[in-house]
Amino acid sequence: MITLNRVSFSYGNDGTACACEQALSSLSFQIESGEFLCIAGPSGCGKTTLLRLLAGLHTPTAGEILVDGDPVRGPREDMAIVFQDYALFPWMSARKNVQFSIRQTHRGISAADAAAMADRFLAQVGMLGDANKHPYQMSGGMRQRVAIAHALAMDRQILLLDEPFGALDAKNRTDLQNLLETLWYSSADPETRKTIVFVTHDIQEAVRLADRVLLMEPGGLSEVIPVPLKRPRAISEGPDADAFRQIRRVLTEKLMELDKPAGRACKCGGPA
Ligand SMILES: Nc1ncnc2c1ncn2[C@@H]1O[C@H](COP(=O)(O)OP(=O)(O)OP(=O)(O)O)[C@@H](O)[C@H]1O
Ligand SMILES: [Mg+2]
Repeated sequence: MITLNRVSFSYGNDGTACACEQALSSLSFQIESGEFLCIAGPSGCGKTTLLRLLAGLHTPTAGEILVDGDPVRGPREDMAIVFQDYALFPWMSARKNVQFSIRQTHRGISAADAAAMADRFLAQVGMLGDANKHPYQMSGGMRQRVAIAHALAMDRQILLLDEPFGALDAKNRTDLQNLLETLWYSSADPETRKTIVFVTHDIQEAVRLADRVLLMEPGGLSEVIPVPLKRPRAISEGPDADAFRQIRRVLTEKLMELDKPAGRACKCGGPA
């Protein structure tokens, strides 16, 4: 379980910023082990900052983050992060990129074992046939597939994904949502299922994937919305289609409200 206790963060990092200048201000909540949490909110509200704090890439200015009771003090062995602007090594093929992350994780693994493992992950994301392609020879969707294979290859218990499908067309996006849900949910034992924290701007995607959606407003938490739909999820058909649309509508309205700059008074009394 990941616990955030009154976490604040300011990029000035000198502790002098007032609440309205903080990227995050006194944020508290818990992420359950094995849960799929989506984070949505207006641009600039602090989603990437929160992910970087969870990953131990920034240190909270105040408050603390605990993973199973253990304070996060830097990058952790049990977490992998795929950044918003994730880039593969351009001089390496898909296969070599994934092999590289495997060798980082499994020190001392033989070249043959790393190759076999890389091919297994590339097959899972449907990239085995294109494993020898370099990033410049791949479409955006292919690059994202390799990025997911890379994250899976690291075999961390907690996956932090920052808009991993943001740049994709609708077809590729749907395919990769299905793939990610399948890979995550196929872990037979819910006790060992990975914890996924997934940032997205797309409400349809959040309802498609999340157990809960954490809606952020600038600097903090607005609301946590549960998505109690059964898995695997069908969007346009099936008995849950109405419930799906209802949750999507509620979330869309809330997000539109949060996106409105007018009327949001700055906490220090200055202009919003
Ligand atoms: N390296 C940085 N230095 C200074 N300020 C930063 C830095 N990165 C982000 N910020 C500021 O922190 C706030 C939160 O940024 P963050 O990138 O976390 O937002 P976000 O919710 O991920 O936005 P988006 O949806 O556009 O990706 C913004 O006001 C942003 O300008
Ligand atoms: Mg961001």
